[in-house]
Amino acid sequence: YRPWRGLIEEYRDRLPVDADTPVITLLEGGTPLVPAGYLSELTGCEVHLKVEGANPTGSFKDRGMTVAISRAVGAGSQAVICASTGNTSASAAAYAARAGITCAVLVPSGKIALGKMAQALVHGARLLQLEGSFDDCLRVARELADTSPVTLVNSVNPFRIEGQKTASFEIVAALGQAPDVHCLPVGNAGNITAYWRGYLEQDALTGSGRPRMCGFQAAGAAPIVRGAVVAAPQTIATAIRIGNPASWEQAVEARDTSGGLIDAVNDRQILAAYRMLAHREGVFVEPSSAASVAGLLMARADGRIEAGSRIVCTVTGNGLKDPDWAISGAARPETIRPTVAGAAEALGLTLS
Ligand code: F0G
Repeated sequence: YRPWRGLIEEYRDRLPVDADTPVITLLEGGTPLVPAGYLSELTGCEVHLKVEGANPTGSFKDRGMTVAISRAVGAGSQAVICASTGNTSASAAAYAARAGITCAVLVPSGKIALGKMAQALVHGARLLQLEGSFDDCLRVARELADTSPVTLVNSVNPFRIEGQKTASFEIVAALGQAPDVHCLPVGNAGNITAYWRGYLEQDALTGSGRPRMCGFQAAGAAPIVRGAVVAAPQTIATAIRIGNPASWEQAVEARDTSGGLIDAVNDRQILAAYRMLAHREGVFVEPSSAASVAGLLMARADGRIEAGSRIVCTVTGNGLKDPDWAISGAARPETIRPTVAGAAEALGLTLS
């Protein structure tokens, strides 16, 4: 038995670190690739879920953040900043706390899930709520980082993409080769960029193959699908409520060179996939994460994904971050008398 050592130690020779880089880690990565029996049966494919909510702060952002914060600290940075729809800020706050540096986060006012806000606050970040969208937050954060002594840790920081590409290495290691199709949600488009880079690097080293990259935006926040910036993006999937993705061109490049697709799924499709993952697979994700599965179901139904394909869907964040949607769509808890008879009656059981 060898314990998991975190991304930087596990993949040191494939990441932009050297012997002098301080390693700021929460032992992120090494997340489960869970076979999805119900989804496989439903689609006639072999479907696996890459459960990124199992990372230390509950999302895939930790993969990028361990590298970005380690490099920032190595360069002598005393403070980091990011714009966020919630998960990046939670991750940045945790890694900055661990490194003993200051963290400031800019979030769209009223548009991030409560659990993510709690994370940023409990780790001691300065949380600034902007009256605007994520895209406004990113514009301000970039300009502030350009003109003051703080390091930007959004995915426009190349170290973030480097860290996030390791998810592809893990998938290839688990399956023995790349899947045929990889589905994931697309917001700022850093993650699709990172996965594609990871698959390309692994293929160049070991001939592991390349999947078709299939990215899914929320219908009210689908600039890449529409081919135009969305000025006022709208969706219940707040993590991907983004109208002008920073890695737009890289996402298009990944789509086109892989023979994949980028399409939109509406909020109803997202919530149906969200509930199905929880009910049928036992995997509780946040609504945005379910866009990957909603997209798979759509593209399988219209034939753009073939029966018999081997498919990985990344589910990007933990459901506990945003429990409102779980509670509003579920059965009500029942209140009973504190007796066996009361419990049996509620459950419809006959006592012997
Ligand atoms: N899923 C979740 C749960 C996310 O938090 C994000 C992005 C995405 C998917 C999309 O990934 O941006 O790389 O295309 N969240 C960022 C944030 C924007 O600030 O936490 P992407």
